[in-house]
Amino acid sequence: MAASDLARARHRDPDGERGSWWRHGVFYQIYPRSFQDSDGDGVGDLPGITARLNHLNDGTPGSLGIDAIWISPFYRSPMADFGYDVADYRDVDPRFGTLHDFDELLGQAHERGIRVIVDLVPNHTSDQHPWFQEARSSLHNPKRDWYVWADPKPDGSPPNGWRSVFKPVGPAWTLDKATGQYYLHLFLPQQPDLNWWNPEVRTAMDEVMRFWLDRGADGFRVDVAAALVHDPRLREEPTASGARRRWPRYWGLPDVHEIHRHWRKLLDASGDHMAVGEVSNDPARRLVRYYGRNDELHLSFYFHFMQQPWKAGAFRRAVAEFEAALPEGTWPNYTLSNHDRPRAASRYGPGRARVAMMMLLTLRGTPFIYYGEEIAMTDVPVPADRVVDVDGRDPERTPMQWDSSDGAGFTSGSPWLPIGPDSGTVNVERQRDDPASMLSFTRRLSWFRRSSAALRWGRFQAIGSSRTVFAFLREAPGERLLIALNFSETPRRLRLGSLAATEPARLELSTDPARRPGAVDLRRLELGSNEGVVVRLRQRGNRWTADR
Ligand code: GLC
Repeated sequence: MAASDLARARHRDPDGERGSWWRHGVFYQIYPRSFQDSDGDGVGDLPGITARLNHLNDGTPGSLGIDAIWISPFYRSPMADFGYDVADYRDVDPRFGTLHDFDELLGQAHERGIRVIVDLVPNHTSDQHPWFQEARSSLHNPKRDWYVWADPKPDGSPPNGWRSVFKPVGPAWTLDKATGQYYLHLFLPQQPDLNWWNPEVRTAMDEVMRFWLDRGADGFRVDVAAALVHDPRLREEPTASGARRRWPRYWGLPDVHEIHRHWRKLLDASGDHMAVGEVSNDPARRLVRYYGRNDELHLSFYFHFMQQPWKAGAFRRAVAEFEAALPEGTWPNYTLSNHDRPRAASRYGPGRARVAMMMLLTLRGTPFIYYGEEIAMTDVPVPADRVVDVDGRDPERTPMQWDSSDGAGFTSGSPWLPIGPDSGTVNVERQRDDPASMLSFTRRLSWFRRSSAALRWGRFQAIGSSRTVFAFLREAPGERLLIALNFSETPRRLRLGSLAATEPARLELSTDPARRPGAVDLRRLELGSNEGVVVRLRQRGNRWTADR
């Protein structure tokens, strides 16, 4: 987006809030190992991302029209968790390039109007991080208290029954033999948890944030943002009738909110910056606590779409719960997939990917697209001898499929994970010039969204309670859109009641390439199986009420 467009978009923001780019824009998540390899080592890198920026946004509808990218970690790391184990927060891992490559990527992205947010991993470091190396060197090292240490029980076992999350789930404690104490790790033993009760840790992480903001980054995706603060008394997790609670207390005390408020101030004070937190899978009414009073992280990821069955009612409910729970002034967001979950096109089947994408880009809220979703990439089966992730997440992390060559245009070498067996057909090059492709559809939809105030920030209203069709209105002054998504395998006639009388209506977009834009009669409009449509309705006088 050109600077003038950004300024205009801000101007139109109903509550005039700063930072509106992160509300109105479309985000795209890049898993850097898998996006584009530029040096033939089989692993993606930062120069690779730079080389592919035109795919994301070259200023024309021939690109995806993306407004911001989130790049998963590219910092120095032993890669026990592929970068989520950081050994140096202020440097680029040589496998991904150099700081200079980052600056180049950022400059090139900004030239195209693409904002860049980077992954902040504050809950834990790598066990190779100099902080931890120092901390473990002796009981009295000044950095000892930067991590969470505890003595063994008298029988030598871990201090309590807290569990780590990766499979096979085990104790969240590992004994450091040299100093005779256990250290805490909610994830791998190679990912010791930082002690957020220690003010020096907070200051150190502020400095990490400033480092990237000073370089020009536009904000952060915050890893495990809710779990930073552990019970300082290390109390045993209370169990209800023997069962573990879904959200054990050691996965974050409410004291974390103070940290989020502090970050919000830091980000807002330093420019037009934002943070989106990976907080929890909690029901919406609990999840929204992480928005605070619109004074904590700008967005808290809403992961519920990743858990819904393919049912109109399930998605309608997920949206309604989120919309109803959001605190005053805060803003929703939606995600279909990420690097930790099976891809949407695999969960639902590639034939449904378009409806899912249409829903993502037309709801009220910031959409996050996962790389490859624009061509309906699916999870790739990974043979046992090529499994590299500790937690079974390889299938959704395979290389981006750019073309039908051996390395899928991703690499000239041998790729770190197998290339999808469908890369001969499911790839960017094949789909680029095919007007009926998923990619062409995604581009049309995204550029339509860019041109539509109603979709970018307009009000939202769900219509009806059909078991098969999820329908809703998006409205801004001068613009009124109906979105109807058929989640069933059979054609469905829309039942819109009085709304159908708001003719004339114009069909703007369909997931079905055979259906052309043009006038439609809403009383007769029949959606095909898994078809979604965007229909422009006549504007009724003064119906608009300012959004909250
Ligand atoms: C987050 C990341 C995941 C990582 C974990 C530990 O959940 O998304 O990929 O393994 O944190 O850092």
